[in-house]
Amino acid sequence: MIAEKTLNRTLHIAKSSKKDEFYTQLSDIESELKHYNEHFKNKVVFCNCDDPRISNFFHYFSHNFENLGLRKLITTCYKNQEKDLFIHAEAENAVFLEYTGDKNGNKIPDADEIGIKPLNGDGDFRSKESIDLLKQADIVVTNPPFSLFREYVEQLVKYEKKFLIIGNINAITYKEIFKLIKENKAWLGINLGRGISGFIVPDHYELYGTETSIDSLGNRIISPNNCLWLTNLDTSKRHEDIILTKTYYGNEIEYPKYDNYDAININKTQDIPKDYNGVMGVPITFLHKYNPEQFELIKFRKGNDDKDLSINGKCPYFRILIKNKRLQEHKVIDWKINRNLNISIPNYK
Ligand SMILES: C[S@@+](CC[C@H](N)C(=O)[O-])C[C@H]1O[C@@H](n2cnc3c(N)ncnc32)[C@H](O)[C@@H]1O
Repeated sequence: MIAEKTLNRTLHIAKSSKKDEFYTQLSDIESELKHYNEHFKNKVVFCNCDDPRISNFFHYFSHNFENLGLRKLITTCYKNQEKDLFIHAEAENAVFLEYTGDKNGNKIPDADEIGIKPLNGDGDFRSKESIDLLKQADIVVTNPPFSLFREYVEQLVKYEKKFLIIGNINAITYKEIFKLIKENKAWLGINLGRGISGFIVPDHYELYGTETSIDSLGNRIISPNNCLWLTNLDTSKRHEDIILTKTYYGNEIEYPKYDNYDAININKTQDIPKDYNGVMGVPITFLHKYNPEQFELIKFRKGNDDKDLSINGKCPYFRILIKNKRLQEHKVIDWKINRNLNISIPNYK
């Protein structure tokens, strides 16, 4: 489970010093991307926050270009106009690169050899130049700047792009992002939290706490353990039911009701009871296991009074209100009757 304290601290640091310079490791890209191979055939991929000379997203797609059957790979990088502490970790010029595969069949792609071209502007993903490239793309894959995450996703939705991007778990709590998830227009990818091993940070980045290391190549790694993949590419995982083993009836005391909404509180996804057909409040990490065929998302965080959900005046950390779609009223009534008669019943979903 992601420690709330760590999450808040990392968020605070990222916000306060605009440290958007978390570079994704190749191993993390590989362990997520391997679940989506079938989506990439004959597609144009755009990595629009990536310097092709250093980005592991560029590395991954150029090296796997033929295996995935890609049509084109476009990569652009951003030249930060604001001089700050981290400027030397960023590109001196905004550049772009288009790769259409290894025509000779014998070369390992290298960004400099393929031919990097300068952009006219600064490579901002919102610039016309970048948007013109976006329009050519089928799928956008990257780790965008955390501080611009909302705007970044909004643009992808506006241009109706498929995407697979890294964000902070806290992004689920943004109303714009939750709305997309609720409407089944975006969902969580495969890896989450500790499933994303860490990011390469600039040399002088303050390494604090136990979640930091230096790898064999001398890269400074920070493992915030609070990141997710957000996507609108289908995965088999989101069609798998969560196996429910607990029961509400007989254990009502473990599932207190909220003061300001007719729903029971659940602290861990694995504690969702299989026999409750009312509304239930679950932690945001539930979304990692969420199957829209099994559960319906009702509401986020707030009770009927528009205040945070509370139990005896205390508010648990953000809760999502859900309802089990598979439980029909008559089944629950049968269940209660059978329980009173002490008849064992089959373990239906
Ligand atoms: C979290 S880093 C990730 C870099 C790279 N995508 C990776 O995963 O290794 C975000 C990158 O977005 C770039 N960036 C910041 N603002 C940007 C903007 N407005 N448009 C495009 N890129 C931007 C930063 O320079 C930084 O390299």
